[in-house]
Amino acid sequence: MKILVTGGAGFIGSNFIKYWLKTHPEDQIVNLDKLTYAGNLENLKDIESNPNYKFIKGDICDRELVNEIVKDVDQIIHFAAESHVDRSILDSTPFIMTNVVGTQVLLDAAVKCGNKRFHHVSTDEVFGALDLEGTDKFTEDTPYNPHSPYSAAKAGSDHLVRAFGDTFGLPFTISNCSNNFGPYQFPEKFLPLMISNLVEGKKIPIYGDGKYVRDWLYVDDHCRAIDLILSKGKIGETYCIGGMTENVNNLELVKKVMAIMGKGEDMIEFVKDRAAHDRRYAVDWSKAQRELGYQPQASFDEYLAMTVKWYLDNNDWIKNVKSGEYEKYYQKQYAQ
Ligand code: NAD
Ligand code: TYD
Repeated sequence: MKILVTGGAGFIGSNFIKYWLKTHPEDQIVNLDKLTYAGNLENLKDIESNPNYKFIKGDICDRELVNEIVKDVDQIIHFAAESHVDRSILDSTPFIMTNVVGTQVLLDAAVKCGNKRFHHVSTDEVFGALDLEGTDKFTEDTPYNPHSPYSAAKAGSDHLVRAFGDTFGLPFTISNCSNNFGPYQFPEKFLPLMISNLVEGKKIPIYGDGKYVRDWLYVDDHCRAIDLILSKGKIGETYCIGGMTENVNNLELVKKVMAIMGKGEDMIEFVKDRAAHDRRYAVDWSKAQRELGYQPQASFDEYLAMTVKWYLDNNDWIKNVKSGEYEKYYQKQYAQ
């Protein structure tokens, strides 16, 4: 089978390509990635010479290129996106272009080339925010209520995918997953940002009161979940994918990481809150467990220790990533 992975040079896409080539060595992968600030071919160094892997530098909004690539593949797994909430507050234009228009271009190509099997990778952020005090979780039936330009653009892409299923019979599935963590995550996101700041002796910026809750999902578990959706999922269905954390807030997360790294609380700095900051995310993944056999493979604390170790062992990777556009972004985002 030949699979088109979009955004395969980013955090989850690169982990997914490596996962797939290991678990399905007979398949071929084409990675279409624009190499924005978040795309990094270093993430794929160990598989770049695999004869079943091909990289194409290009934009998913480039209709001609996308049509050319899609006609030659069996399946599309769509990761490419602008993915950082804070950047979507600074400038939402690239979010609409890639997440909405780019998805539409891919969908058009998938239909035009004979209704190719399409898996769309989305986020739990499309559902909005849960109350801090509540115990409820997002399910596949939770109404959409996005609050950031990022989540609104992802919501738009989800609606387009379903509309193409209804209108043109496109065979699709969607996954809405929680916050991923693991190796090769760009250090604008909270976990690699806090680890790399501590390595450099810099403080950890905590937005607002720090009592914001995320449902942390280890990236390998997410990759296995997508594999299960492709092999056992029902066409036209959505699957919520989450991890094993129960109400760990940002402050508690920071303290866990500082304990692993032997750092004291003087490294915490409370900073101005994010606009429209969603209080709590929690994902009920019982449908994926029941129908696909999905289950995270280790505890959150085990995965967290593995992740911190990976960043400490791969300091050069972080240094290279931070040497580019990152510094300018950091100054702009945290200038106060
Ligand atoms: P990322 O920002 O690390 O990587 C995105 C990749 O897409 C980069 O390689 C970038 O170069 C590429 N890209 C961006 N615009 C493109 C374009 N126009 N054409 C081609 N390539 C383009 O993102 P990620 O964290 O790996 O997220 C992947 C997907 O998973 C996204 O769709 C995101 O919305 C979704 N998701 C992520 C998380 C998370 O915690 N990271 C959680 C839920 C859902
Ligand atoms: P992030 O990794 O940006 O993911 P998302 O916004 O998609 O959930 O942020 C995770 C949480 O950490 C979120 O509540 C915002 C918070 N946060 C901080 O407190 N400080 C930071 O510097 C960053 C980047 C995030």
